[in-house]
Amino acid sequence: MQEKFSIGVFDSGVGGTSIWKEIVTRLPFENTIYLADSKHAPYGAKTKKEIISLSVKNTEYLINAGCKIIVVACNTATTNAIDYLRDHYDIPFIGIEPAIKPAALQSRSKCVGILATQGTLNSSLFHNTLEQYAQDVRVIEVIGEGLVPLIESGTLESIELKNLLQSYITPMVRAGIDYLVLGCSHYPYLIPLLKEMLPKEIQIIDSGLAVAKQTEAVLSSQNALYKKTLGTHRLYSNKDVAILEGFVSRFRESVLTQNTSTVSYLDF
Ligand code: DGL
Repeated sequence: MQEKFSIGVFDSGVGGTSIWKEIVTRLPFENTIYLADSKHAPYGAKTKKEIISLSVKNTEYLINAGCKIIVVACNTATTNAIDYLRDHYDIPFIGIEPAIKPAALQSRSKCVGILATQGTLNSSLFHNTLEQYAQDVRVIEVIGEGLVPLIESGTLESIELKNLLQSYITPMVRAGIDYLVLGCSHYPYLIPLLKEMLPKEIQIIDSGLAVAKQTEAVLSSQNALYKKTLGTHRLYSNKDVAILEGFVSRFRESVLTQNTSTVSYLDF
């Protein structure tokens, strides 16, 4: 069964396709299975217990489908549930965390901004990272409340979205940030808007490429990299397939060929 050799990826919705795309680009021979748990989005305002329970549900589907590794393409699920998942399942997990470390190291103004969900910013994993890497840097934390539902609706250019985003970044710019860390896998889809709004000297950092590299490193260390034929990709939404298809179709011309990916409804 080809699923046996897949990389499993899940997110609270369509946003994790920004990470999935980096994995497919870097590892074109691997099969992938992507779960968009849009029915339960957003995860960001849920309790840790709820986030763990949803992460367990997604993980069990992917393990039963025969995945060899699971990428938690959601900062909120990583920061709240990855320790639990690693303790309870005998499969490697790759998580995604806000890229505070490179931002803090490279910042010249010693002031960086982070836009993330409430669940991520409140997590102890995030606070540990801050303590470890951002002691000498002022970190402006902003909860991107409302952004995930708007991105999940599939429209990335509405006035509502623009106004909301502007209201979140204005205090960061005023505070003098020179790096903006995107701490949610939905937010890379906002980069075109952010580039219009932010002064040119402010760098935007997300963690997608780092996750793809880490996935490659772990598979390679386990001798589990597949190198023979182009991978196939199955993406599932438990809510609106057309919206997931809309996000995936951006990559059909570049990283995907028409016949290697399917987007379908799945009740999970
Ligand atoms: N993509 C998720 C993340 O990276 C969004 C969380 C949510 O659903 O609120 O945090």
